[in-house]
Amino acid sequence: MSVEPDVFSSKEKVPTIVLDSAKEVSLSVAREIADLIRERGSHGRTCVLGLATGSTPMTVYNELVRMHRDEGLSFANVITFNLDEYFPMRPEELQSYNRFMREHLFDRIDIKPENVHIPDGTLDVSDVPEYCRRYERAIQDAGGIDLQLLGIGRTGHIGFNEPGSSRTSRTRLITLDRLTRMDAASDFFGEPNVPRRAITMGVGTILDARRIVLMAFGENKAPIIAQAIEGPVTPTVAASFLQEHPNAQVYLDAAAAAELTRCKCPWT
Ligand code: GLP
Repeated sequence: MSVEPDVFSSKEKVPTIVLDSAKEVSLSVAREIADLIRERGSHGRTCVLGLATGSTPMTVYNELVRMHRDEGLSFANVITFNLDEYFPMRPEELQSYNRFMREHLFDRIDIKPENVHIPDGTLDVSDVPEYCRRYERAIQDAGGIDLQLLGIGRTGHIGFNEPGSSRTSRTRLITLDRLTRMDAASDFFGEPNVPRRAITMGVGTILDARRIVLMAFGENKAPIIAQAIEGPVTPTVAASFLQEHPNAQVYLDAAAAAELTRCKCPWT
């Protein structure tokens, strides 16, 4: 009996590309970002990027830095908005997303400091709602996000939009899920040291981006990736809202794709 590959039983509801390795994915995504920056630049226009932190985008940032150094890729026309920051958090602290971005990208390229936006973890809590409104306004004033880069947490969060985050949520203070705090425990030398809250762009803020690229690597992400891509659209899995975006793209390595329907066949 001959068996045909099960390609037509794919239940993916977001365009999904699976490559062999995280490195291959990262080089491909870095190329897309560089092409967009150059294309905008050639028309004298700015390029607005939404950026993520975590281990997932690190190789993309390394590759962008390499392109800056070796190929003259300039970030002079780039404006960035980061997704999130722990709260409270000082920018110089080891776990700060502000510090992460400076070390992995901003200090190594020619971006203008005034074009960088990262949620401020040092605010008085009473100032946060107005600050979040201003963050939203700054995104609009920049012309909206051209390309939003995303990772995914094991709760299905994008940014720090934990389960329960609605389709229309905007930049705000959020309480972190227990699983998220457990996953961050090693960075903070123990779960009790992980902040309980964070400032994050909302699901609605993210979905307003004209292009969204979500990357996920490794077997730990496989179960939540299957839910986000093949499951129902639900606030229980914030990443599932990408199914409703007209220009979202998911990139996976083989391990993160392992629980997708198509990967049940041994020959893919
Ligand atoms: C944190 C960040 C997310 C990120 C997630 C996954 O929770 N707020 O934006 O996607 O971690 O992190 P990693 O890429 O290290 O798996």
